[in-house]
Amino acid sequence: MGINVDTTASLSRRQAHWEKSSSIRSRPRRVLRNVSPDEHFYPIARQPIALHPLVKALGTAARQRILLQSLYKFLNDIAFVETRVVSEVSLAIANDQLPWPFPAQLRADVLTVVIDEAFHAHVAIDFMEQVQRLTGVTPLSLPTTLTVEQAIRNALPKLPADLHIALKTISVCIAENSVTKDLIDVHREDGLNETFHAVNGDHMIDEVRHCLIFGDVLRHLWGVLTLAQRRAIGAVLPDFLGDYLSLSLQKQFDIDILADVGLDARQIETVIAATHLDQDLATYRTVNPIVDKVVNFLAESGVLDDPEIRKAFEDRRLVDS
Ligand SMILES: [Fe+2]
Ligand SMILES: [Fe+2]
Repeated sequence: MGINVDTTASLSRRQAHWEKSSSIRSRPRRVLRNVSPDEHFYPIARQPIALHPLVKALGTAARQRILLQSLYKFLNDIAFVETRVVSEVSLAIANDQLPWPFPAQLRADVLTVVIDEAFHAHVAIDFMEQVQRLTGVTPLSLPTTLTVEQAIRNALPKLPADLHIALKTISVCIAENSVTKDLIDVHREDGLNETFHAVNGDHMIDEVRHCLIFGDVLRHLWGVLTLAQRRAIGAVLPDFLGDYLSLSLQKQFDIDILADVGLDARQIETVIAATHLDQDLATYRTVNPIVDKVVNFLAESGVLDDPEIRKAFEDRRLVDS
């Protein structure tokens, strides 16, 4: 007679959850077997250029091509962010290499993130290759950087060297919080290719767990910084968010996509002017809930508790006074 042993009994609740539901532990390889003409590869709701009359006039094939290229950029961005930005910071935390000690349990949780993110990059690249093989459409030249990397690059020179890793850690906490919303948004749209839906769903489940882990990371880090350190970082955060949520890389890629489907320079300018409004972060906040979502995350983690930092956010109209 077998004895019923609970093999997860000695694990923390969070690790037991990872053992059971992380995509690397529990999901099969997602195989793209066919492409139905009624499906599309990227949510139209997230790609406004596909809805512009000049693009609609080109017909369904052009629209499908635009969505396909948008999928490639989305997957490439995932592979980049996971293996470069998130992994660097996560490994440093897991190996206790930050100037501030982190609790052992949290470091163990962050190590599971390193595993997950490498797997997400692998799945993104694997899926991108499967789509290319089946559709015969190769990606246009994809951006070689990410807005989060640009935002970090712009913020670091404004801070003393001993705070660089703190800023990078906070950047990852913010990115890990907003990627979850991104994935949920993608997941919501009907008519998406079924395999992509599955790939995205697997990723989303992991990111919900990461979101909680990095909420703890931010709260812990913020709690061990001195007031002067918090204020130095707080002062650069509004500009950091402006860079992070900037659509400039997307805009350049959209220009390339529109040229690829055959629009001329004047038509491209018209579509871009209608879909990429030149607006500051406070105005962007009125049309896209992502700004409030990120600022609320910072507030919940204690980042806006200090009146001086809160005022810097109020002055930029990122919170209501
Ligand atoms: Fe991920
Ligand atoms: Fe993640």
